[in-house]
Amino acid sequence: MRQKIVAGNWKMNKTLEEASMLTAEVMRLLAAEAIHTAEVVLCTPFLYLTNIKAQVAGSGIQLAAQNCSEHEWGAYTGEISAAMVMSIGVPYVIVGHSERRQYFGETHKILAAKVDQALAHGLTPIFCCGEPLEIREAGTHEQLVKSQVVESLFHLSPEAIQKTVIAYEPVWAIGTGKTATSQQAQDMHAVIRAHLAAKYGQPAAEEISILYGGSVKADNAKELFACPDVDGGLVGGASLKSREFVEIVKAC
Ligand code: PGA
Repeated sequence: MRQKIVAGNWKMNKTLEEASMLTAEVMRLLAAEAIHTAEVVLCTPFLYLTNIKAQVAGSGIQLAAQNCSEHEWGAYTGEISAAMVMSIGVPYVIVGHSERRQYFGETHKILAAKVDQALAHGLTPIFCCGEPLEIREAGTHEQLVKSQVVESLFHLSPEAIQKTVIAYEPVWAIGTGKTATSQQAQDMHAVIRAHLAAKYGQPAAEEISILYGGSVKADNAKELFACPDVDGGLVGGASLKSREFVEIVKAC
């Protein structure tokens, strides 16, 4: 059975105090609801990972970094390596979020190197893919997403791909309140899984969690997560509100 995952991507939001209050609220609500179905992951700013890790100890909540360097070590001022993330006991890292692709020039090749760094240091990459609006409108979204997956993941061994999580996030749905319909999400997830199956075999493809992201909210999560190939969500804006986020976890 594939792991269900609900990951909250806080992006560049919250002071340390606010982050810690949000975490406390999420922990309290999850404990009150006794929810154990999905893996809950908080993708906090790097700076807070150590504090929040101490705070969530024993709760079952996992943490993720929002990015890592494509390099292992060295003279890359301001960068954070996968080895550093692993060394503080954080198990996940988001790789290739569309904001990183768009604002920080992350290419397929850079992202392939980041995925390699993550896996080499024992982190689970949450690899993001997804098309911008003009590509969706041109009808070439399936080709684009295929190329994102092929170019940055298909060099991986069968063992390594199994340790990877994929998040499909149509760019036009991120932070816009305009979510993909559950049919659009399911269709693309099935396409991604079919490519994985063609390359790595059906049994391997069946084991890889594919999350949906893009304006996931408490009121649309249930329908999205009910799709057979949607294994949870990568949640941005709604993860900044404890009750909304926990409602999304419940929907999974
Ligand atoms: P959103 O962001 O839920 O605010 O649309 C999703 C994401 O960027 O991961």
